[in-house]
Amino acid sequence: MAHRICPWWLGYWLVSPLRKLRENPSKALAPFVREGMVVLEPGPGMGFFTLAVARLVGPEGRVVAVDLQPKMLASLERRASRAGLRDRIETRRAEPATLGVADLDGLADVALALYVVHELPDPAGFFGEIHAALKPGGSLLLAEPKGHVSEADFGASVATAQRAGFRASGDLPGFWGRTAVLVKR
Ligand SMILES: C[S@@+](CC[C@H](N)C(=O)[O-])C[C@H]1O[C@@H](n2cnc3c(N)ncnc32)[C@H](O)[C@@H]1O
Repeated sequence: MAHRICPWWLGYWLVSPLRKLRENPSKALAPFVREGMVVLEPGPGMGFFTLAVARLVGPEGRVVAVDLQPKMLASLERRASRAGLRDRIETRRAEPATLGVADLDGLADVALALYVVHELPDPAGFFGEIHAALKPGGSLLLAEPKGHVSEADFGASVATAQRAGFRASGDLPGFWGRTAVLVKR
């Protein structure tokens, strides 16, 4: 699998309103995200999913959005401020080898890994960090782009997540990529 990182300028394309015609973040995530939840989102880009999640968690909830690229985070912050959602979203800069979320240990209700795992050099370490951050029974929602990730490579990612302590519990409806719902055992 290629580990090329999405260039920051493609982030603008990823937040295009036209994308909602194929993939509606609020509708797709509503079955998993409830008011007051803590949601961890590695690789949010400019926040196509983040703003919808911030609305779903409400004023008592929190989204921790962790990206490698400062330009993605800066744009996400501006978009969140314009939408009046900035206080629900905590942005963090990841290091290439770690998300830096050890402080969330067992606190997150849901984690999102939406179109990011194929960019990572160490998926096993990534799934391990997310597993530690989730509450027991918490869900990791995984989606990968069909164009970049073959069915076999996607299966290998799911197997890596299973070795990190997740149970696969079906597909994720409403996404155009290859998907899985993974539950922390
Ligand atoms: C293809 S974009 C997807 C963005 C968003 N999830 C979406 O679907 O619109 C992948 C994002 O993952 C980020 N990323 C890549 N490697 C990362 C890492 N090691 N830690 C955190 N974020 C990373 C990239 O900077 C980019 O913003």
